[in-house]
Order: sequence, then structure tokens, then C-alpha cells
Amino acid sequence: MRISCNRKLLAALTAAAMGVVSFPTVISSSAADDVIYATGFEAGEEIVFTGRGGIEVIESSTEQVHGGDAAMCVSGREKSWNGPQLLLDDICEPGVEYVVSAWGKSEWYSTFSLSMEYTDADGIRQYSNLKSFQGDAWNEFSEVKFSFSADQTNVYLYFECSDATCKMYIDDFVLAPAPVIPIQEDIPSLSDLYSPYFNIGTAIMASNLSSPSFMALVEKHFDDSITFGNELKPDFVLNKAACQAMAAEGNDTNPQVTLSAARSLLNYCRDHNLPVRGHTLVWHSQTPDWFFKENYADDGDFVSREVMLLRMENYIKNVFAALEAEYPTVNIYAWDVVNEAWQDDGNPRNPGEQGSSGSGNSAWVKVFGDNSFIEPAFTYARKYAPEGTKLFYNDYNEYMPQKTQAIVDMATDLAAKGLIDGIGCQSHLDVSFPSTSAYEKAIAAFAATGLEVQITELDVTTSDTSEAGLTTQAQYYSDIMDVLVKYSDSISAVVFWGVTDDQSWRAEKLPLLFDASFQAKPAYDAIVDGLEMPDITTTTTTTTTTLTTETTIVLTSTGGAYTLLGDVNCDGMFKVSDIILLNRFLAEDNSITITDTGLANADFDQNGVPDGDDAAAMLMRLAALD
Ligand code: XIL
Repeated sequence: MRISCNRKLLAALTAAAMGVVSFPTVISSSAADDVIYATGFEAGEEIVFTGRGGIEVIESSTEQVHGGDAAMCVSGREKSWNGPQLLLDDICEPGVEYVVSAWGKSEWYSTFSLSMEYTDADGIRQYSNLKSFQGDAWNEFSEVKFSFSADQTNVYLYFECSDATCKMYIDDFVLAPAPVIPIQEDIPSLSDLYSPYFNIGTAIMASNLSSPSFMALVEKHFDDSITFGNELKPDFVLNKAACQAMAAEGNDTNPQVTLSAARSLLNYCRDHNLPVRGHTLVWHSQTPDWFFKENYADDGDFVSREVMLLRMENYIKNVFAALEAEYPTVNIYAWDVVNEAWQDDGNPRNPGEQGSSGSGNSAWVKVFGDNSFIEPAFTYARKYAPEGTKLFYNDYNEYMPQKTQAIVDMATDLAAKGLIDGIGCQSHLDVSFPSTSAYEKAIAAFAATGLEVQITELDVTTSDTSEAGLTTQAQYYSDIMDVLVKYSDSISAVVFWGVTDDQSWRAEKLPLLFDASFQAKPAYDAIVDGLEMPDITTTTTTTTTTLTTETTIVLTSTGGAYTLLGDVNCDGMFKVSDIILLNRFLAEDNSITITDTGLANADFDQNGVPDGDDAAAMLMRLAALD
């Protein structure tokens, strides 16, 4: 590895680290040569890392070395969070993606982590782990991506070790802007291709926003539906300090919320007119234990069922109120009201705290005694969600037969009470399990409830990451998509849990359709193969076609009851998929149905008849907008 150290930069970094002067930004767009800070911690080189605990001894040492003649040695630690930190505010820019590489070494029993910390818009200090490893060999942090947004301040990169006192060694540190790799523009858009069947979406995290290539893939392939990977979960939305302050004033049942973690994603979806799946309101995981405790104290007793019902109602009410107040134009068309309440054997989760290691126990069950918290959650969601919001129950391993049955029974009961609109099948799959036929049985059972079905978190892991393994994965993906197309009358959206493998929550097993370089994998090719890209240039020349379908539409000469001209599939947006849908309909494709409102929206020229002229006019309009 080439190790360089820009002297002028180092001097400025030193000054910035000491808080003396503000550092001139040194950033350029080409990553390869544009290293911001690179050092091998050789003798005589100034080390600009500072100790997080203020007690660490940080020095160049020959005790343990990866490259060159020395490494950074950090000793004198007393807490696991003690370690070296690098202030980024003055050397990196918000909204830009960077990569950091380094080698680290400690003891075999200690987990060595690279993380980021910052102060968020609410003044709360936040910590986010970027990568960890265990073992006493030298391990590489290779091109680990990170970014931060404009409302995050006092941003540091830091290293820490789970063992409180062991020495840490770090070598060959390089910080640079992430290279911008173009996406493949000439391949078909998944959302266009699948538009006759269902919407296509994905999950994204706030950190993805700073990668132009990542977001280009989102906009090209997954623009029908966006889920926030974490940022609308109770862990991120509950404001502990404000909750405790309110409790101190005597109100222990009105949980306070903040959208600060979700803000950059909400802004993005608002500005790009992207429909959002809200994820999630009531969940045992990623929900702090203190939410269930008296006075919201970590060590408090669990509150009563009555208190928790009030907290649940007010939490749900406050989330919807905050979204309405701050983001009235973001189309959050669906919410996962309750997530993962059933075990594989069809029973409720075990009662208990979630704990820092994620026990799988449910504090909801602890307080309620059973799953009787589910119905009130849907009741409150129905009461406070904007009219028309689709309410979903969402779960994983949904294909385990007893769990499938528990979900069907619960959903049928809620549906009879008018409280639920859909079932979300997470679909975190592996090439070896479940079989396509087992998966199909579950989809068939959910479809038979008459509720809307969405695939909400699709990914497919493979332990074999060789070319052969990726081919097997491609076949599995293709078989699953065949099942979903077969049930497309019941399925309204297929949402992937991420875009590129490296950014996935299961990154090591390469579960997604695009690789870390933003290129389509065999899995992408497999789910595109056999699906024809509708040819919009030939079909738009169609002239007036008599509408002879069973759909009755009453259009007045002034155009009738349209909601958004061009929005043929009534998803709140006007896109090329609407033109494709209209053309297929006009070509009397029997698999296509368009609602009355959709047909009213299709009458783009408002002459009373949706026809080929409208399709042509819509195409011209979109071309002009581009
Ligand atoms: C995952 C996120 O992707 C991770 O970043 C996070 O660390 C853990 O949660 N089921 C769900 C999702 O409903 O919210 C989970 O998301 C994956 C499993």
C-alpha cells in the first residue's frame, strides 16, 4: 500500500485536532490520487489522532508493525470505548461519501471496531459502528464507506476495543473520497419491467444518500417504494431525554418523538416524490427497554398494561403528528404497524427485555402477557394514520407453516374488524432454504385472505460466494420471482432489503442484485430474463381504441374525476410505467386492469377518452420533464 502524508495537510490536521484554526477543505473528486490523510505512523510523523478518553498514550511504536517500520500504538486505556479518534468536520464534507482503510490488531479475546460518532440535529451524541473484527492477527478495514450529513456535527472516526485495557495497534491508515463508479444505464429498469405485475422498491439508509451511484440505482430500478432501513424504528424515533423530562413533569404516558434520524431520507423522498413504506411502529426489537419502564428509566420496573396502552397510543399518535407537521407531502402510503410478533411455532414471543445483545424476547409480551397488544396497535394506527394509509402486519420466516397459520388467523380477525390492509412477507431467504414450493404455499395462504400482500424485505443469502454460488443464487431468485408474478394479483409491491451487497445487513453472504461496484449480478439478469421490456416507442403510435373491458368508466366531457393526470396505476406518481400500463390496456392485454380513477387519470388530453393520443402526450410530457 502506498503511504503518503501531505505535510501541509498534516500540519492543518494537527491544528484542527487541537482546535486552533479552521482547516482548509482539501477534497477532490477523483479518489485514487486524492488521499485526504494517509499515514504509516512512521517515526517522526506527527500523529493527529487524539485519545477519546483523554488518558490514552498514543505513539509511533515498533512493537507491532503491519507496513513500514512502525505502527500507532494506543496504551493506557481504561474503558472499552477508549481509543484513538480523528475529527472529520474540517477535513471532510457533509453529503460526500468517503472510504477509510487501515489495519488493526489487539488481543484474541477483544473485538476491534471502527466507528463514527457525531452530534445530531437534536444535540444528541450518536454512535454508529462501521466495521468490527475479532482475533489477534492484523486485520484489514478495507475501503470502509462512510459519510455524514450537514446537520451532523463534531464528527469523529474512531477505533475502540471491547477489552477495556488491552493495547491497540493501527497501521497503514488511508482516508479518501469514495471513487464514483458509473452505473449501467443501458440495462432495463426493474420497476418499469415489473410494472404490469407489482411495484418494485428497496430499503435505503441515510448513509446511502451520499453515494451518487447507489442513489442512481435506487432511482432507476427501485423508485416505486422506499423503506428506511432503520431510521423510523422506535430506537431512532423515541427521544429519551424529552420522554424523561415529560415524565418528570408528571406525565408518564406521552412518549416524545423526533424525526432527526429520518430527516435526510424524508427530505430525499419528498424532493424526489418517492412513495415510502413506514417501518415500523410496534416491535420487540430496536425498541429501547426503557420505553416499557416506569419514568422511562433504564432500571425502572415494567409499567402496567394500562400505562403501556396509553404510551402506545400516544407514541403512534405523535409519530403521525410529527410526520404530518414536518413532511405533509411525503407519501407514506403504508406502515408496518406491528413487526415480528409470532415465533416460528406460531406462539407469541417469550416475555422479557430485549437487552443490548438482542435476546429476541418481547417487552410487549412482558407487559401484556401475550400478543393482545397487536389489536390496539392497529386500532391506534387506523385512528391516527392519514386516511388511505395501508396498514400492514410484517414478519420473517413467514413461510414456516405454524407461523403462516398464526399470521393468517390474526390477519383474518383484524380484517373482519377493518383494522388491517395487508400482510408483509419479509422474505429474508437463503439459496438452501426455504424451497420455492414451501415459499409458494405461504404466499398462497396470505393471498387467500383477500388482503394485499407485499414482499417487504427480499434478500437471498449464499454461503458460496464463488461464480457457481452466484449462479445458484440467480436461479433461486428467478424461481422466487416466478412465484411472485404468479400471485401478482394479490401482491402490490416487492421490496428488496437493499441495493448493493456491501451495504446489506448480511453483506458477507452477498444477498442482493447489485455488487459493491454497482454492477448487476447474475441474480439481476435472472429476474430480468424472460420478462420483456415493453416497447414504448412502437406502442405510443396507437390511435383511438375502443374501450371494451369490463371496467365501466364515466367520463364527462370535462374529464371526469381524475386525481393526478398521467397516474394510470394510481400510485400517486406519473411515470413511464403509467404509459406502459395504458398501452398494454389499449392493446387489450387481458392481464391488465385499470381502475376508474386510473382511466380518468389516463385521459391526459382531457377529451373524454383515454387513448393512444394520451399515451403519446404523456410520453412527450415525461420527455420534456427529463
Ligand atoms: C435490520 C437493518 O437492516 C440493520 O441495519 C439493523 O442493524 C437491524 O435491522 N427485519 C426487519 C428489519 O424488520 O427492520 C431488519 O433490519 C431486518 C429484519
